[in-house]
Amino acid sequence: MAIPVRPRLLAALAPTFLGCLLVQVAPAAGTPQKAFDLTWKSTNFKTILEWKPKPTDYVYNVEISSGSRDWKIKCFLTTDTECDLTDEVVQDVHLTYQARVLSVPENNTYLKEPPFTNAPDFLPYRDTKLGQPVIKHFKQKDTQLNVTVEDTQTAVRRNGTFLTLREVFGKDLSYKLLYWRDSSSGKKQANTKTNDFSILVDQPVSYCFSVQALINSRKDDQQSPQSDTECSDEWESIMGETLIIVGAVVFVLILFVIFLSIYLCKHRKGRAGQKRKENSPLRSA
Ligand SMILES: *[C@@H]1O[C@H](CO)[C@@H](O)[C@H](O)[C@H]1NC(C)=O
Ligand SMILES: *[C@@H]1O[C@H](CO)[C@@H](O)[C@H](O)[C@H]1NC(C)=O
Ligand SMILES: *[C@@H]1O[C@H](CO)[C@@H](O)[C@H](O)[C@H]1NC(C)=O
Repeated sequence: MAIPVRPRLLAALAPTFLGCLLVQVAPAAGTPQKAFDLTWKSTNFKTILEWKPKPTDYVYNVEISSGSRDWKIKCFLTTDTECDLTDEVVQDVHLTYQARVLSVPENNTYLKEPPFTNAPDFLPYRDTKLGQPVIKHFKQKDTQLNVTVEDTQTAVRRNGTFLTLREVFGKDLSYKLLYWRDSSSGKKQANTKTNDFSILVDQPVSYCFSVQALINSRKDDQQSPQSDTECSDEWESIMGETLIIVGAVVFVLILFVIFLSIYLCKHRKGRAGQKRKENSPLRSA
């Protein structure tokens, strides 16, 4: 009969099948796997290389080089999937850097060259993203609106101090100001090659604005994100003027009331005096 045979057959096949599975799984564990999805995350020259996957039973070494220089090892036997390469790439932001991620056994001993993956070339001056700019201060008087953008510090160091964006990019860095009165009036734009805007707006009322940095020499990724929006407090001075006018009107009204009372008082006294005079002949009579 066929039926009793089948379970026996399955029982016989099971270890083979399991063995098959084990054979497939066993070499995967501990075998260094090539890194993939290598990505540069760089803002204002702070630069981190990221990759996948999270390692199991092996570790990564990250190496960096520029031009003819030898590979320099940065992150050594790490289980992380990121490596901060800022210190290397800020040494000369105009060089093109190569980086690679090697997958090595935990004891760092390997017979052949370990599997590795190259990162895309990285040119800090061209590739680092611009951070969100910050409006340092602003002032509006009538239709004159002045806005100053903070000169953000970068990760580039020279003589022990951090350079600002302007110090690194010079005239290559400009700022764009978008300003508007309200949603219906549309947005207008002004540009500066410094960190200061001094513009004339159409009306002496409150304006809102935000700024954006851009690098003119770049083909791609020219612009930073928009700064937070700020609004001038021109309405305060308008409020002030309104208060002064209201005050003046109230003052004039009060004076008017006082003078009117005095006038009416005198007038009534006068009339009362007249009445008394009119009455007196009667009394004397
Ligand atoms: C290092 O580890 C690998 C596997 O992770 C192993 O095959 C090798 O024998 C180890 N070498 C030493 C010197 O411990
Ligand atoms: C704006 O800047 C200009 C020139 O930089 C200056 O003459 C003017 O007084 C400033 N206006 C205000 C309201 O700060
Ligand atoms: C760094 O400092 C040295 C001396 O302190 C000076 O001669 C040099 O010009 C400085 N370099 C820069 C780029 O400021």
